[in-house]
Amino acid sequence: MAIQLGDIAPDFEQNSTEGVINFHQWLGDSWGVLFSHPADFTPVCTTELGLTAKLKDEFEARNVKALALSVDPVDQHHKWIEDINDTQNTRVNFPILADEDRKVSQLYDMIHPNSIATLTVRSLFIIDPQKKVRLIITYPASTGRNFNEVLRVIDSLQLTDNEKVATPGNWEPGDAVVIVPSLQDKAELAERFPQGYDEVRPYLRLTKLR
Ligand code: BEZ
Repeated sequence: MAIQLGDIAPDFEQNSTEGVINFHQWLGDSWGVLFSHPADFTPVCTTELGLTAKLKDEFEARNVKALALSVDPVDQHHKWIEDINDTQNTRVNFPILADEDRKVSQLYDMIHPNSIATLTVRSLFIIDPQKKVRLIITYPASTGRNFNEVLRVIDSLQLTDNEKVATPGNWEPGDAVVIVPSLQDKAELAERFPQGYDEVRPYLRLTKLR
């Protein structure tokens, strides 16, 4: 059965450009972004991995480890990394899984044969420190992902895990958030949101945090 939100991310052991990775152990107490791309030495993938490398400080600030995957062998990954560093003006600073036997691709349902016969599509999973899957997105080979959006979702998850709020459409950090509809107790509302809130509808209450 396909992986669903809230499931424990399946554990695995697989070779990578930084040696063998035991996934859960490697994640430790960090959040994780596990993402597949179709193949090495392809243009869109080259830009995606370059972008991820450039966001190192942003990932670290959020306690997130990135882990890429393609079904090419590790020696090819290493040659490609030289190209990524050269063409994207960065240094790849995260491991790339060499999923030649397609063990991880199959475990995470990353091969969609009606889209590309044997290669992985652009799957991406955000995994929290409890190893729960919190976001799943799947893009076609022809469309590179927006890694600023990945960071935005992590910001939303980390915020909403700690406050009784949710983030509205197109939310960016610093924007108003919505108070979860299940919170109705007036005393708790006053305690949690001393700054007040705008009740547009009883179920739609907006407030600014900090
Ligand atoms: C790319 O990464 O550029 C790509 C990979 C597979 C199919 C099309 C584009």
